[in-house]
Order: sequence, then structure tokens, then C-alpha cells
Amino acid sequence: MNFHIVTFGCQMNKHDSERMAGLLARNGHTWTDDMDEADLVVFNTCTVRQHAEDRLIGNVAGLKRLKAVRPEMIIAVGGCVAQKEKERLLEKLPHVDVVFGTHNYVNLPQLVERAQVSTKPVCEVLDALDLPPNGAPSLREEKHHAWVPIVVGCNNFCTYCVVPHVRGREVSRPVEDLKNEVEKLVADGVVEVTLLGQNVNSYGRDLYGKPQFARLMSEINEVNGLERIRFTTSHPKDLSEETIQALAELEKVCEHLHLPVQAGSTRVLAGMNRRYAKEDYLRIVEKVYATLPEIALTTDIMVGFPDETEEDFKETLDVVERARFDYAFTFIYSPREGTPAAKMGDLVPHEVKADRFERLLKVQNRISLEKNAALVGRVIQAFVEGPSKRGNGTLTARTRTNKVINFSGGKELIHGMVNILIEEARTHFLMGRVVR
Ligand code: 5AD
Ligand code: SF4
Repeated sequence: MNFHIVTFGCQMNKHDSERMAGLLARNGHTWTDDMDEADLVVFNTCTVRQHAEDRLIGNVAGLKRLKAVRPEMIIAVGGCVAQKEKERLLEKLPHVDVVFGTHNYVNLPQLVERAQVSTKPVCEVLDALDLPPNGAPSLREEKHHAWVPIVVGCNNFCTYCVVPHVRGREVSRPVEDLKNEVEKLVADGVVEVTLLGQNVNSYGRDLYGKPQFARLMSEINEVNGLERIRFTTSHPKDLSEETIQALAELEKVCEHLHLPVQAGSTRVLAGMNRRYAKEDYLRIVEKVYATLPEIALTTDIMVGFPDETEEDFKETLDVVERARFDYAFTFIYSPREGTPAAKMGDLVPHEVKADRFERLLKVQNRISLEKNAALVGRVIQAFVEGPSKRGNGTLTARTRTNKVINFSGGKELIHGMVNILIEEARTHFLMGRVVR
């Protein structure tokens, strides 16, 4: 069969999709970029906000027409919406053939085979956690880069968040397994890995000997041929001194920290069960900048948490001004069924949320541009990823700080390191030219 996978949501989902693709390919199926010619379409879904779920429903409903013409076509829905909804999803989307949970993608090829011979939809959603099996195949989107999940699940229960309810409790993978996996990836052409977890800083607490995240990074730093190590996400309450030191000292660990603040008001942070105050967060940021003045700091911020007042929101703007993030992923609060925050009601009117969102974006965009502008005139080492998405014949390179640089250059530069003189700054990227 020709298959196509549509992925919604976070990097963990992107990684899971690459595993699904690897498993399907190992079973003799072939990837196609064109959904219209696929015999099997897989949706890997996200439920973190209602918007993502609505888009999924729209996308799958859109396939009804294709399926009317080609009834043998198989539609499979996996990931977080499937995990949460289980069989209920089939009531909303009766033309779906396979529903599989976040822990069940390892069986995807078998579930598809069963659906081909069955007259009824096939549904497999297990509650038990299943780690990505060591050595399970993965069909990567990019040859040079790999996602490596080091801990799956989350124990934090932020009051707005559905993730712990869907992905279960934290389970870490042993240091040795991870090091082996990275060695295999490097042998396959990978030069950059991103270590993934909802909270990488709590890595290892469930393992024998409780290896710390910093120790894992120093082991992976030893892998010959690997050039760059990234990681995400860090919870401020668990970011250790050792991790900051690892960022400073391990030469492969890139100078970028994603540290979601979520909100600036200590009262709202308490309501969110984040377990730090505004001043704690700012203290950590200060320490990070003092240790690594050149680091890029990014964050997640939400507006419109149920009882967020104008005063609370101003505290968020204050944190944004003081922390000077390079980039912020900004969200409008979306109530998720079954979470404690959802029981408070959705109290902030939509217009107020939209207004705060716009104001937040304006402040952050100004700061992003200021930070990029400060790089003009500097020569920065960057890894050339490929043709730029702007489609004007330029190439795209990425700095250790995870910034994108567009520049002109020949195809022979792709997948190599270059030094680029930064000539122009935009809010979300840089422009420059290659220098020796
Ligand atoms: N509403 C809006 N944003 C949310 N996030 C998590 N849950 C919600 C929600 N219910 C955001 C947080 C998190 C990011 C991945 O998504 O900012 O860090
Ligand atoms: Fe959700 Fe909080 Fe866990 Fe992140 S740390 S996944 S926001 S519960």
C-alpha cells in the first residue's frame, strides 16, 4: 500500500509519526507525499487545545469524498485524540477504519491488516505505557536530524493540561539504550539530535540509580560523529544547576533553552499548579544569562486562564520584558475536559483573550526583532539544512541557538557547516552571506 501520515501537535508526535512510517515501511508499504493517491492515510492527532481537535475532525471529514470514490482506502486515527476518545471517536467519524492509542502505534501494521479484512472498524487503545522499542525502525523526515524521546508521559498535572491524562506517568529510557540509539542514528547520517520529554529535567527519577539529565547529556556528548545536541522541554521548577552547567560545558549541547513560563502572575501560576513564583522564574533566567550570555531563550505563554485579570496579564507582559525571550509560543487558553481548570469555567470573554493575545504578541515580536538585530555584523556558525521554505533559491541554515538564517549559496553547501556574516534581521529569521 501507499501510505501518507498527517501529523498534528508536538515534537513527540512528529517522532511517533516517524516510527509509524518506519514500521509501515518495514512491512512493505511505501510512503507517498500525495494524500490523494494514498491507500492508507494515518492521522496522528493532538488534543492539547480544542483547535487542534477541530482541525482533525475537519481533515478526516474531508476524506469522506475520496473514500466514496475509493472504498478500499483505509483511514487510521492515532495519537492523543484517539487515546482520549477511544471508540467514541468512531461515533463522530464513522468512516474511520482504525483507531489506535498513543501506546499502540507499534501494532499499526497489524491493525491495518485486520481492518482490510474486517467489516467493522478496528480499535486498540491501551492504558499501559509502551516505550519506543529499542531498534524499532524510524523513517525520518530529515536525514541529518533525529528526535530521541528520553522520557514519555508527565507527572506534573498543570491544572489546564490534558497531557498527563492522555500520555500517562513519566517513564524514562535507560542511559545505555539511549546512547546506543544515538550511535546507530549517527551511523545512519544523523549529526543533530533533539532529546524529547514533556519535562526532560525530571529524566531518570524512575530509573535504577536515578541518573540525572545532565549525566545523560554528558554520555551522549561522547558519541563520535554527533555534532549537536538539543533538548526540550524544561520545567522551571526542575531545571537544575547541573543542567545549566552542562549547557555551558558540553561542547555539543547547543545554547538554546526552552523554558515555558506560561504566565507572569504568581497567583495565576499557583492556580496553574506550576509550583514556582514569578520571581523564581526571573531568578532562573538571570542565572542562565549570567552563565551563558549568548544563549537563546524561548518559552510558552498562555493568555486567558480562567480567572486571569488585567493586572495578572500585565505581570505576564512584565516577565516578557524582563526575560527578553528570543521567541515565545503564545496560546489562548482552551478548556480541556477532565482537567481541574476546566471546572473553573471559561471565564475570560473571547474578545478579552484575543486582545491580550495581540498585545502579548506585539511586545514579544518587538523583543524578538531587537535580539535578532543585535546579531547583525556578527559571523555565526550554522548548519545548512536545505533550500529555504521561501522558495526563492536561497538556502536555510540553523545556528546553535536554533535561529534560522536565509542566504544564497550552492547546493554543495547542504548538510555542512558554514560561517555566515549576518547582514539583516527580521522578527523570525536572519539573513546574511557566507564568509570564509
Ligand atoms: N490551553 C491553551 N494552551 C495550552 N497548553 C497546554 N494546555 C493548554 C490549554 N488547555 C500550552 C502550554 C504548553 C504548550 C505545549 O501548550 O503553554 O506549554
Ligand atoms: Fe502539561 Fe504541565 Fe506536563 Fe507540560 S509539565 S505536559 S504543561 S502537565
